[in-house]
Amino acid sequence: MLSRSVRQVTRRAMSTAENVKFFQVYRYDPEVANQKPYMASYPIDLDECGPMVLDALLKIKNEQDPSLTFRRSCREGICGSCAMNINGTNTLACLSYITPPGQAPSSKPIKITPLPHMYVIKDLVPDMTNFYDQYKSIQPYLKTKEPKKDLEVEHLQSKVDRKKLDGMYECILCACCSTSCPSYWWNADTYLGPAVLMQAYRWIEDSRDEFRKERLDALDDAFKLYRCHTIMNCSKTCPKHLNPGKAVASIKKAIADELH
Ligand code: SF4
Ligand code: SF4
Ligand code: FES
Repeated sequence: MLSRSVRQVTRRAMSTAENVKFFQVYRYDPEVANQKPYMASYPIDLDECGPMVLDALLKIKNEQDPSLTFRRSCREGICGSCAMNINGTNTLACLSYITPPGQAPSSKPIKITPLPHMYVIKDLVPDMTNFYDQYKSIQPYLKTKEPKKDLEVEHLQSKVDRKKLDGMYECILCACCSTSCPSYWWNADTYLGPAVLMQAYRWIEDSRDEFRKERLDALDDAFKLYRCHTIMNCSKTCPKHLNPGKAVASIKKAIADELH
């Protein structure tokens, strides 16, 4: 068996210009006077790079331009911080293959821009302040009317009720869905968007929460909820394969059934 260093040398010797792929990356630095956003092109030898788009971005930052700025942490689809637009789709850079398994390598460059219709702080880093303020506004925590009795520390839930949260609790708040929603693009100041609405529904559906009616009341608003026109871009783009569009529709139905 070849040692690791021998394998690396062999791999380097085998790498050819045919394995070079270009990455076109959105660049913007507000601290550079009079500089407008532009697309920069970086060549990457795929024989020397990991398989994911995040690997390529890290390689560009480490070897070509340390000023390239993007968020990332877990590199396995858990933290939601590497959300960006890759070849026209909002997704996670750490879960996106440069060449998806089973597909032939493409000579086309990979184009990377920030999540759309967000204010950009720098390069691929969007300003998430409004998104997090909206998340805070739905009170994303368990609320009960009476405090628990002294010895009763757990809020128990049946397996059937727990199952109702499947498909919602897995959301990593990456904002890929909300920033793919045309209604959110044009009304982000008033419309809560699919990610936050799905989290609102996650607490509405939680059998342990005692504020279901109040939560529905708070969402019964022409702008917060009813800007959704069921276009379903949100569910198509979710990198965790969740269905926020369905959750938005479920809130509308619950309001129609229970409040009106
Ligand atoms: S529903 Fe999916 S796309 Fe939307 S924030 Fe959650 S994980 Fe991201
Ligand atoms: S279904 Fe609603 S929330 Fe989802 S993309 Fe369409 S308008 Fe936006
Ligand atoms: S780095 Fe955490 S989801 Fe991509």
